[in-house]
Amino acid sequence: MPVITNIDDLKRIYARRVPRMFHDYCESGSWTEQTFRENVSDFDLIRLRQRVAVDMADRSTASSMVGEDVAMPVALAPVGMTGMQAADGEIKAARAAERFGVPFTLSTMSICSIEDVAAHTSKPFWFQLYVMQDEDYVDRLIARAKEAKCSALVITLDLQILGQRHKDLKNGLSAPPKLTLSTMADLATKWSWGLEMLGTKRRQFGNIVGHVKGVSDPASLMSWINEQFDLTLDWDKVKKLRDKWDGPVILKGILDAEDAKAALAVGADAIVVSNHGGRQLDGALSSIRALPSILDAVGDRIEVHLDGGIRSGQDVLKAVALGAKGTYIGRAFVYGLGAMGQKGVSTALDVIRKELDTTMALCGRRRVDELDRDILLVPRDFEGTWQTG
Ligand SMILES: Cc1cc2nc3c(=O)[nH]c(=O)nc-3n(C[C@H](O)[C@H](O)[C@H](O)COP(=O)(O)O)c2cc1C
Repeated sequence: MPVITNIDDLKRIYARRVPRMFHDYCESGSWTEQTFRENVSDFDLIRLRQRVAVDMADRSTASSMVGEDVAMPVALAPVGMTGMQAADGEIKAARAAERFGVPFTLSTMSICSIEDVAAHTSKPFWFQLYVMQDEDYVDRLIARAKEAKCSALVITLDLQILGQRHKDLKNGLSAPPKLTLSTMADLATKWSWGLEMLGTKRRQFGNIVGHVKGVSDPASLMSWINEQFDLTLDWDKVKKLRDKWDGPVILKGILDAEDAKAALAVGADAIVVSNHGGRQLDGALSSIRALPSILDAVGDRIEVHLDGGIRSGQDVLKAVALGAKGTYIGRAFVYGLGAMGQKGVSTALDVIRKELDTTMALCGRRRVDELDRDILLVPRDFEGTWQTG
C-alpha cells in the first residue's frame, strides 16, 4: 500500500488507474489552459507569517457554511460524470464527505441520480443546478432535489455555453465510453477500473436518462446536453429560480464584483468565486486573485466562498484568511476517488485537514474564525493593475 502524504500522491495513482478519456476530462482547462494553471500557481504567490510562542493547544478546524456545521471549511464541488472516475463515484464521494462532516454537492451531470445518492447516504447533500432551456425539466429537478431533502441549491451561472477543452474532442468523450480501437487499447491497461465498472448499472447520466423524452442512446443524450444549456439565462431568471427554493441558494461562477452585487440583489445566500476550474473562459483571472475585490464589494453582506486550484490545506487557509467563508475542492477529491474509491476521497480530506490544522498552528491561530489577513504576506500588486477597455 503506498504511503499517501499529499494530494499529488493521489493524482499520480489516479493517472495510472483511470481511462485516459476521463482523466483528461478532469485534468484539462479550456483552450490554452492559462486560467486552469494560474488557479493553482497564484496560490503560491501568497506567503505566510510564521508566529511563535502562541498557545496552540485545543485547535479546531470546524466552521460553518450557509448555516451548516462543517468539520473544516471545505465542501466537495459539483463534478459532472464523477461516476465515470470510479464506479458509483457520486455515492462513494458523498459517503466520504458525510463521514468526514463536510458538504457534498451533486452535479446535475452526475452518473448516480439524486434519488440514488439520497438512498445511499443519511445526511442531506447539496444539489447543483444547470439551467436548461426545458423549464419543466428544471422544475422537476428542483422538485426532486427538495424531495431528496437536499439542504442547499447551488446554481451554476458560468456555463450557458461550453468552453472548449481540446482533449475532450480528440478523445471523443462520452459516458459510457464509445469503444473505438484507441479507447479499447487504453481500457486494456485500466482493467481494475473496467472490472468495477462492469459491476455497476450506473453508467449513464442518472438525472437525465429516463427523465427527458426522446433521450435514450448515448448519442441523443450528448446532443441533448450540448443544446440544452439556457442561452437566455439572465438575472431575472436567476431571481425566479432563487424564489423556487426554500433553503439556502448559492450562486456559483462569480468572478466579477459587479456580478457579485447582482447576486446579492437577487437574494442569494452565498456566492462561489469560481471560473469553473479554468474550464470556461480561458484568460479570466484565477479565483484567488479575483477574491479580494469581490470581498471588498460584498463581503460584509453575503457569504463568499471560493473554488479553483485548491490542492492543499494551505490553499484553504489562504482563501479563508483573505476572507472566504468556505472553499470547495473539485479535482483534489476526484484524484482520491479515481485512485482509491471512497477511501481515496477520505484520504484527500484527511490530507487537507492536516495541512490546514498544522499551518494554522504555525501561523499562531487555533480556530478558523481567527484566520485573518494578518497571517498572510500578500504581494502588493497581487490582484494586478488592470484596466478595462
Ligand atoms: C471534471 C470536472 C467536471 C465538472 N463538472 C461540473 C459540473 O457538473 N457543475 C459545476 O457547477 N461545476 C463543475 N465543475 C467545476 C467544479 O465544480 C469546480 O468549480 C472546479 O473543479 C474547482 O476547481 P478545482 O478542480 O481546481 O478544485 C467541474 C470540474 C471538473 C474538474
